[in-house]
Amino acid sequence: MTKVITYGTYDLLHQGHINLLRRAKELGDYLIVGVTSDSFDKGRGKLNVRNNVLERVEAVKATGFADEVIIEDYVGQKIDDIQKYNIDVFAIGSDWEGKFDYLNEFCKVVYLPRTEGISSTMLRAETTTDVKVGVIGCGRVANRFPFEAGVVNGISITACYDISVDAMNDYVRNFEGVNAYESVDALLNDIDAVYVATPHLTHYGYIRKAINAGKHVLVETPMVLNGESAKECFELAEKKGVILMEANKTAHCPAFNHLMVMIKSGVIGEVVDVEASLSKLWDDNMTLREFDPGQAGGSFYELGSYPLLPIIRLFGCNYKNLNIYSRFQDGVDMYTKGVFRYEHAVCSFKVGLGVKTEGNLVISGTKGYAYVPAPWWKTDYFELRYEDQNKNQKYFYKWDGFGLRYEIQEFISCILNKRFSTARLRRRESVCMAEIMEAFTNRKNFFEI
Ligand code: CTP
Repeated sequence: MTKVITYGTYDLLHQGHINLLRRAKELGDYLIVGVTSDSFDKGRGKLNVRNNVLERVEAVKATGFADEVIIEDYVGQKIDDIQKYNIDVFAIGSDWEGKFDYLNEFCKVVYLPRTEGISSTMLRAETTTDVKVGVIGCGRVANRFPFEAGVVNGISITACYDISVDAMNDYVRNFEGVNAYESVDALLNDIDAVYVATPHLTHYGYIRKAINAGKHVLVETPMVLNGESAKECFELAEKKGVILMEANKTAHCPAFNHLMVMIKSGVIGEVVDVEASLSKLWDDNMTLREFDPGQAGGSFYELGSYPLLPIIRLFGCNYKNLNIYSRFQDGVDMYTKGVFRYEHAVCSFKVGLGVKTEGNLVISGTKGYAYVPAPWWKTDYFELRYEDQNKNQKYFYKWDGFGLRYEIQEFISCILNKRFSTARLRRRESVCMAEIMEAFTNRKNFFEI
C-alpha cells in the first residue's frame, strides 16, 4: 500500500484545495491530510485564518479524499509524521517547489501543480472590506501601530488626529495612506473604528464621542480611571452596537493566555499567591507626560494595568482588602506596591517609574509555581517548577514585533464577528482595573512611604 501525506491550512476551502487533495490521493492508496492547528498558524504569523481548526478539518473531510486527518502543531512534525505513519510520498502544491526537498531523506517528495487564480488569501480579501481605522493621538505607541496593523488582515489605517499639528504631520509623513484631520469630528466621518492613544485623562471623552458616532474603539490601557466611567462606556458601546476594547497587550499575548489556562486547569495546584512587578526608568526625563500629575502621570496609572491583569484573571475582583503603598516625587508616584487579600490567597504587585525592581511574575500554588521572567508582560517563555525538579517544565513561544498585532487582530475579529466581549480581556476585568485605579486616586487604604 502506498501512503501519501499532505499538509495545509485549508482555510475557506476552495477548488484549488480540492484539486490538490484529489491529485495527492491519486499518488497512492491512502491519504493522510495534516491540517494546521490555530496556534501553529498564529505562531508562524498567519493571524488572519478565518475558519477555526474544527471547521477546517470538517471541510477537508467533506471532500472525501482524506482517509485520515491529523493536526499539524509544531515545526518539524512532518518528519515525525512521515516516520510514525510509514509514509511513502509527501505531496504539496507547486508554490512550495524546493522548500521540502529536505524530506527526500525520509520519503519521496512530489510537488503537485497548483490551481491558478485561487487562494485562501484571495478569498479572504474578496469577502471583507478593510476596517478603516483612524488614530487619535500620534505619540510613541501610536507610531508602532501602523507597522503592527500591517501584518493583520482586514485593517487599514487611513486617518489620524492629534492636538499637535506637528505630531500629526510627522505621522502622515511616516505612514503612507494616512490622512491628517483637523478635528476628531471630521475624522469620525471617514472611518469605521478609532485607536485612541492619547494621555489617559482624555480617553473618556474620545471613547464617548467615537461610540456616539457609531464607531468601534480600541483604547490604550488604562482605558479610564474610574469604574463607573468604564461601565458606562461599555454599556454605551453595546447600546450603539459597536466594539469597545482596552488595548492591554499582555492580555492578548499567546504565551500569557496559555499560562493562565494551564494554571486554571490546576498544573500548580490551588493558587495561593501572585507576585507581579514591572518597572521602567526614563533616564530622568521628567518632562514626559508620565511624570505630569496634571495628566495622571505616575507609576500606577502608567503601568498598573499589566500586573493587575494576572491577579484579576486568576482571582477576579472580589478581594477582601487592598492596601496600596506609594512613594511620591513632584506629585506623582515613582513607586507603588499593592497587596490584595482574597479569601484564600494574597497577591501583590510593584510598579516603578523611579525605582528599578526585578520585573517578574511568580504564581505560587499548593503543588508548584509558575515563574515568568522579565519582560513577563510580553511573555515568550515561562517555567513551571516543582519540589521534584525532574518535573519542571519550560515553555517557549513566539512574540512578534511589538506585540500589538495580537490585540489588533482580536479587535478586527470582534468587529467582523460582532463579538462585544473578548475572552482575552473581559469587560468586567477592564471595569475592575478602572475601579482599582479609582481606589488609588481616592487614596483608599493608602499609605505614603
Ligand atoms: N493549493 C493549490 N492550489 C491553490 C491553493 C492551494 O494546489 N490555488 C495547495 C497548496 O499548495 C497546499 C494546499 O493546497 O498544498 C493547502 O494550501 P493552503 O496554504 O491551505 O492554501 P492557500 O489557498 O494557498 O492558502 P493561503 O492563501 O492562506 O496561503
